[in-house]
Amino acid sequence: MNFDLSEDQQLVQKMARDFATAEVLPKAPAIDREHRHPAELVARMAELGLLGIAIPESHGGAGLDHVSYVLAMEEVSRACASTGVIMSVNNSLVCDPIYRFGTAAQHREFLAPLAAGQKLGCFGLSEPEAGSDAGAQRTTAERDGDAWVINGVKNWITNGPVADVCVLFAMTDRAAGTKGITAFILPMDAAGVRCGPPDDKLGIRGSKSCQIFLDDVRLPASAVLGEVGGGFKVALSTLDGGRVGIAAQALGIARATLEDSLAYAKDRKTFGKPIMQYQAIQWKLADMATELDAARLLTLRAAWLKDHKQPFTKEAAMAKLYASDVANRAAREGIQIFGGNGYVTEFPVERHFRDAKITEIYEGTSEIQRLVIAGHLAKGV
Ligand code: CAA
Repeated sequence: MNFDLSEDQQLVQKMARDFATAEVLPKAPAIDREHRHPAELVARMAELGLLGIAIPESHGGAGLDHVSYVLAMEEVSRACASTGVIMSVNNSLVCDPIYRFGTAAQHREFLAPLAAGQKLGCFGLSEPEAGSDAGAQRTTAERDGDAWVINGVKNWITNGPVADVCVLFAMTDRAAGTKGITAFILPMDAAGVRCGPPDDKLGIRGSKSCQIFLDDVRLPASAVLGEVGGGFKVALSTLDGGRVGIAAQALGIARATLEDSLAYAKDRKTFGKPIMQYQAIQWKLADMATELDAARLLTLRAAWLKDHKQPFTKEAAMAKLYASDVANRAAREGIQIFGGNGYVTEFPVERHFRDAKITEIYEGTSEIQRLVIAGHLAKGV
């Protein structure tokens, strides 16, 4: 077994760390405070190849692997979890399924500009009545000659207000259940597409999400992604990769908390000495560091399996379940280390605390991850 990173992986990690430290971190508090979509950072990520990391260069991407993606996601999310999820959605939930299921024409028209970051994508699966129960799609796509006519509402769509393209899911045959769901590539400027106001969120406030209303949206037959009726497999296999990305976002949040708490503990004095010298604080930091390492190993393993074309559904669920738990525990303990200073916005840990929560919810709640893991255990795989 070899834990060494390749030269390319080390280079991308350093490049992402340098970018995140110099350009993202200084802006993170204001992005959060102002609920601002960081368009200039998205443009920089496009220049640096961070928006289509594991897509081949021939298709507009950086031609790297999913381990590199995890390394870069951790660095960007360590600086700003909002910027991290913008990056994650474009990579995992948009470029990846279009690359895996798209036609050559879809690769040329949609994947190339998305992977190069000239366009930004979103993923339209969740609905008001279809969150964890993703198969309960109410959005419909009906045939009209060669075209499809789409009606429905999508909920909590990350990047929705700023996206150019949506990987959209709709029922094309209700009687067929999940086998009646089809994936489409929807240009967000199509007639009949309307975004609701941005969601007012607890955390990741620089990441814009919204409802998307679809009223008689007409798409050509060539907009179908994969096979008619094959959309649920597109969605769930895409979410496997997405969960690795969110696990990496959680690593970034946990690391931010650990690094900020460690620096604070060395500086802050009580009863005449730095609080780092008290075992009560040392134990919290030791637990944070140990759990962060364990979460990182789970996440890198899932990415490595994806890179090696091996099944990784269970491992992705384990990585997301554990890393999101670690991030939330770290953020809670981080606030405790900061004490009163942890509860005010002048210091960064309250932001990490608010940002961490969503990692236990989106791209499958922790409860759903446990169902996925248990399902594999029951089948003996
Ligand atoms: N890859 C490919 N196919 C898969 C799969 C996978 N990982 N998991 C299941 N399938 C297939 C099954 O094999 C089955 O097909 P067959 O009938 O041909 O065997 C089919 O999908 C249905 O499987 P299930 O019966 O297990 O499906 P289910 O309806 O019971 O749902 C679930 C399973 C795990 C609960 C699923 O609905 C789920 O993952 N829910 C959570 C949804 C989610 O993660 N939403 C996130 C929204 S996107 C988001 O959050 C983005 C953002 O904001 C950043």
